[in-house]
Amino acid sequence: MEQEQQQITKTNDFPSDDHDYLSGFGNTYESESIPGSLPRGQNSPLLCPYGLYAEQISGTSFTSPHKLNQRSWLYRIKPSVTHEPFQARFPRHDKLVSEFDKSNSYTTPTQLRWKPKPVDTVEESAPIDFVEGLYTVCGAGSSFLRHGFAIHMYTANKSMDDCAFCNADGDFLIVPQKGRLWITTECGKLQVSPGEIVVIPQGFRFAVDLPDGPSRGYVSEIFGTHFQLPDLGPIGANGLAAPRDFLVPKAWFEDGSRPGYTVVQKYGGELFVAKQDFSPFNVVAWHGNYVPYKYDLNKFCPYNTVLFDHSDPSINTVLTAPTDKPGVALLDFVIFPPRWLVAEHTFRPPYYHRNCMSEFMGLIYGGYEAKADGFLPGGASLHSCMTPHGPDTKTYEATIERGHDAGPSKITNTLAFMFESCLIPRISLCALKSPLMDNDYYQCWTGLKSHFSGEGADSKGNGV
Ligand SMILES: [Fe+2]
Repeated sequence: MEQEQQQITKTNDFPSDDHDYLSGFGNTYESESIPGSLPRGQNSPLLCPYGLYAEQISGTSFTSPHKLNQRSWLYRIKPSVTHEPFQARFPRHDKLVSEFDKSNSYTTPTQLRWKPKPVDTVEESAPIDFVEGLYTVCGAGSSFLRHGFAIHMYTANKSMDDCAFCNADGDFLIVPQKGRLWITTECGKLQVSPGEIVVIPQGFRFAVDLPDGPSRGYVSEIFGTHFQLPDLGPIGANGLAAPRDFLVPKAWFEDGSRPGYTVVQKYGGELFVAKQDFSPFNVVAWHGNYVPYKYDLNKFCPYNTVLFDHSDPSINTVLTAPTDKPGVALLDFVIFPPRWLVAEHTFRPPYYHRNCMSEFMGLIYGGYEAKADGFLPGGASLHSCMTPHGPDTKTYEATIERGHDAGPSKITNTLAFMFESCLIPRISLCALKSPLMDNDYYQCWTGLKSHFSGEGADSKGNGV
C-alpha cells in the first residue's frame, strides 16, 4: 500500500507550511521518510537499513577545510550509477552558455534593458518545460575552470514529465517571478512561490512541475563555489536574512518501475541524456550539509540609513558567493524590498554611480524606485563594469520636486533584486539580438538637464 502511494508523483503533496521543512542555514541535517532508515554510527555500513544503497554527493573537494566542506549521504533504493550511457541530447539546446568567450557571446558597455518575455500567450501546441525554457542572458568565466557565473531566465508552460535535470556545472539560485514551482529533489520536495527563492546545489537531480501553468523567472548560476550568508559586520548578530528562515526539504521517495525515465545532465553548458528504469527520487533517508534550500524574501529584515544619505545596495545582501579576495563577490544576491525611507535632506532614490562590479537587475513585482517607466516585472537590466546608471529623468525630477519637506514614506508593493558580480559579463547572442531588447533605454536619462546655477564660478570654471 505504501509503495502504491509513493508511485503517485503528480499529486499536490508539496509542502505548504514552513513546518513541513527542516530549518537553518549550513546545518548538518538529517531526515528519514521511514523510521530507522538512516544508518546510525557510520556512513557506509556493509548492509544499510531496508537494503538501501549508500551514496555520497560531494559539493566541495574531500580535503576542503572543515568549515567549508559540504557533502551529504543519500540512502537510496538503487544507486544513481544505474543508468545507460550518456548521449548528447537532440535537438541541441543552443541557448545555454557555460564558458563565455567570443564564439558564443558579446561584450558591450552599453546599458541594456529587456522587456518581459510573454508567457500567457504561449500556445499549448508549443509546450516547453523548465529545462527547455532556460536561456542564458549573460555571464563570465568558465564552468570547466570552476570560476565564473551565468545568468539565465526561463519561461515555461509545462511540467517536466518522466525526466529529471542535473546541473553538473554549478549551483542554481532560482527566482520565480510568475507561477509557483513544485520542485522534487533527491532530498525531498519544495514548493517555491514568487517572492521566494530556491538554491539547487551543483549535481543534485531535480524535476520542476508548474502547478500554475505558464511561468517565468530568473536563475543565477555560480561555478566553483557556493552561496553563504554575508558577514554582518557592525550590524551585529541579527538582521538581513536569518539562518532559521532557510528551509530544507524532508526526505521523500518514490519506488517502482519507471521505464524510459530520462536524466538530463547539463555538463559544460551542453545537455546530455541518460535513460534509466526508475525514478532518481528514490532517497529514503539522508544526512549532511549539502542540500537544496528555499527562502521567503518577505522574511528579510532590511537595514538602512536612519538619518541622511543613501546606503550602498550591499546593505540588502541576502546571499553571497565569495571569491578568494576579501569582500569581493563572485555573485551577490541583493534585494530591494518594501521599507521605510526616512533620510533627511537626502536624495532618496539610488544615487548615480559607476561601479567596478557589474549589476544585473530583475523585478519580481511592483515598480522599482529608480525607474518610473520601462522596468517591468519579469524584465531585466544590465549595467556592466563602470557603465554609468541611476534614476531616470522622471524619478529625478519628481524627487527634486518634493524637496526637503518629504517626510517618512514607505515604499510598498515592490520587490526588485540584483545579481552583482566582480566579473565582467558577456552577453549571449539570444539576449543581445532579442526582440525584447529595449533599444530606447538610454533615453530615460537623456532628459536630465543641467540645474547648474553657475554661481561662484567664472566662465572658465575656475573657483573664485
Ligand atoms: Fe548600480
